[in-house]
Amino acid sequence: MTNVKATNITWHEGNLKRTERWDALKCTGATLWFTGLSASGKSTIASALEQVLVQMGVNCYRLDGDNVRHGLNKNLGFSAEDRAENIRRIGEVARLFADGGAVTLTSFISPYRADRDLCRELHGNDGLGFFEVFVDTPIEVCEQRDPKGLYKKARAGEITGFTGIDDPYEAPNTPELVLETANKSVDECVQECVNFLRERGVFRG
Ligand code: ADX
Repeated sequence: MTNVKATNITWHEGNLKRTERWDALKCTGATLWFTGLSASGKSTIASALEQVLVQMGVNCYRLDGDNVRHGLNKNLGFSAEDRAENIRRIGEVARLFADGGAVTLTSFISPYRADRDLCRELHGNDGLGFFEVFVDTPIEVCEQRDPKGLYKKARAGEITGFTGIDDPYEAPNTPELVLETANKSVDECVQECVNFLRERGVFRG
């Protein structure tokens, strides 16, 4: 639970309505929340999807776990508490981007159900679409890919608290979309996401 320290603050409603903004900019904001193990393919798929969507004229922005930890969240580590704060901040940032009209793609391990549910709630309370995409790649496959050599280090005991090795990953119970990457190409996964967004009415025109 976040410690609330801000007092004597008053919400200032802007003049511009969300619908006015979205209609003028011809966009529809929503968040596609990718979750899965390290090396499951979250960032690769989200990055390819971002390019495809922007080429289609969809206002899209991607927030990536490793990248966000270079800046906004550089003061957070990998304890359960820090991961919760990492995800809470990203949930809030994604909500702002979505409110601004972007199809927002987030690629974070986000290993805890409660943390992801909080982000869903933040969006829901604000009338914004939130769609959980479970990048369902078996740990054996992730470990074999090991693009950053982190599984190797975790197995050697050089990294502790590594998700899937000695730290938990709680798979979503009811994700809106499941991508089984072990037997699919990146392009196929991207197409599934595009089809999904179209079905949910996130595209205009
Ligand atoms: S999360 O658990 O808080 O959602 P996030 O997606 O931001 O994690 O960052 C995960 C990335 O941090 C991994 O892809 C990996 O490159 C790196 N990393 C470093 N230490 C760990 C660790 N202990 N567990 C998982 N990932 C780690």
